[in-house]
Amino acid sequence: MAPRYLTPKAGDGTVRVLQISDCHLFADPEKDLLGVNTSESFKATVQAIKEQNFEYDFIAFTGDISQDYSATSYQHFASIISVLEKPVFFLPGNHDDGPLMYRIFEDLGVNIAKNVITPRWQFVFLNSEVYAVPHGWIERRQLDYTGFCSQRNPDQFMAVLVHHMPQLVHSAWLDTQTMHNRDEFNAYMRRVPNLKLVLTGHVHQEFDMYDHNIRYIASPSTSIQFTPLSSDFSLDNLAPGWRYLTFYPDGNIDTQVYRLQNNVFIPNHDVEGY
Ligand SMILES: [Fe+2]
Repeated sequence: MAPRYLTPKAGDGTVRVLQISDCHLFADPEKDLLGVNTSESFKATVQAIKEQNFEYDFIAFTGDISQDYSATSYQHFASIISVLEKPVFFLPGNHDDGPLMYRIFEDLGVNIAKNVITPRWQFVFLNSEVYAVPHGWIERRQLDYTGFCSQRNPDQFMAVLVHHMPQLVHSAWLDTQTMHNRDEFNAYMRRVPNLKLVLTGHVHQEFDMYDHNIRYIASPSTSIQFTPLSSDFSLDNLAPGWRYLTFYPDGNIDTQVYRLQNNVFIPNHDVEGY
């Protein structure tokens, strides 16, 4: 698949990205996920982003666009996010149908390129989805694609985006759904020159750590939030959110999480699983 070359708006090569994740849409927009209407919470998030007039170059959506694997849910997604009038790139999550997304998204205005190249940074979108199971697995050819992108553009700093966090988040229930071959993933990534960041969804919470000089960041969902450091399944009352990232030409990264104000998307706490 051809890479997408993108000229950032900032003249010095700084790239600004909005990460949005885990909207979990249904074909039926009336449906809710554990008490939260995911269509309404996603629309409210997009509206809040629109109103805040962020300056950014593209949207990176880190998986779980759908909750029911339906083509209609992807049509809803494309229609709602088009309000932001920015290039959208994505990768599949464990609730998605990856092959379906790559088949239909281009016609719906969502980019299917897996490598976004700018003058100082490049971004690689990987697929850790194992169809219809919650945990992730990264295939060798996904790793090799990262190495290929690095060799093709050796001068750029690199950020790898993938749905499953390849680090434990110390929530026992959620860590059973981690990337199961994360040791292989991390060992490979440590050998990729210029790799600065692994950016994920899946854990529906803020997460930020370093391992071997690579930064690992995860972000809130636009739907339900999971309580950090909880051994059993637990929903948090924090509002839906998104993340703003600034990638500087010297390799540094700044980032901040934003959430909806006056949260009305409170989940049903009488549930024991997800
Ligand atoms: Fe999710």
